[in-house]
Amino acid sequence: RERPVVAIDGPAGAGKSTMAAHLARRFGFLNLETGAMYRALALKAIDNDLDFADADEMLQLATRTTIKLEPQLEGNRVLLDGVDVSRRVRDGDVTAAASKISVHPPIRVWMVDQQRALGNSGGVVMEGRDIGTVVFPDAEVKIFLDAAPEVRGNRRYKQTGSDDAKVTEESLVKELKERDERDRNRADSPLKPADDAVILDSTGLTLEQVLEKAETIVREHL
Ligand code: C5P
Repeated sequence: RERPVVAIDGPAGAGKSTMAAHLARRFGFLNLETGAMYRALALKAIDNDLDFADADEMLQLATRTTIKLEPQLEGNRVLLDGVDVSRRVRDGDVTAAASKISVHPPIRVWMVDQQRALGNSGGVVMEGRDIGTVVFPDAEVKIFLDAAPEVRGNRRYKQTGSDDAKVTEESLVKELKERDERDRNRADSPLKPADDAVILDSTGLTLEQVLEKAETIVREHL
């Protein structure tokens, strides 16, 4: 590869998307949010009233689904069978469903194949849970971005500025923890840093400091 693959992994709400968008802009790479693919498939399962726990049913669904990620300045536009679902996939029901369908090995294979095709020629920042461990174990740059759950929940709370009174900071922290538990404990491609990943804990850092560190890491590996 002439241009690198930059893999960014870590738990929910650590700031991976912000980091990916920033690095992509800085270095002229494409940013690809792999979580959006799991979210899009989960949305289709919800719309078709299917059972997230049924791996076969989910794979059947995937084989008749087209998901496209269009990198933007901030994040990705997500097209599900040609329809823009970028906003809808961020809703709580889709978030929870994405977490559940992502445990199924055949679904992961289906996703990983497409993600490899998207990133293979390099010049990409790919963000998710298994990029450095499974999708691109040979990525030129690997960052594992972490932060304490309370900090991630608090940042997410401030950033969503939810007008839904039921969404409290506490409920967000709880939701993040549940998703992380599922990601960390699944048998296939559990969330964990690759052996050769640089671990970046943003707990006591400002956004500017985190982005600065990430930029330095990428530069060192170019
Ligand atoms: O990153 P995001 O929160 O959008 O991802 C949604 C869900 O998709 C995560 O909770 C995780 O379970 C799953 N996911 C995954 N592997 C990835 C990206 C996301 O299992 N590479």
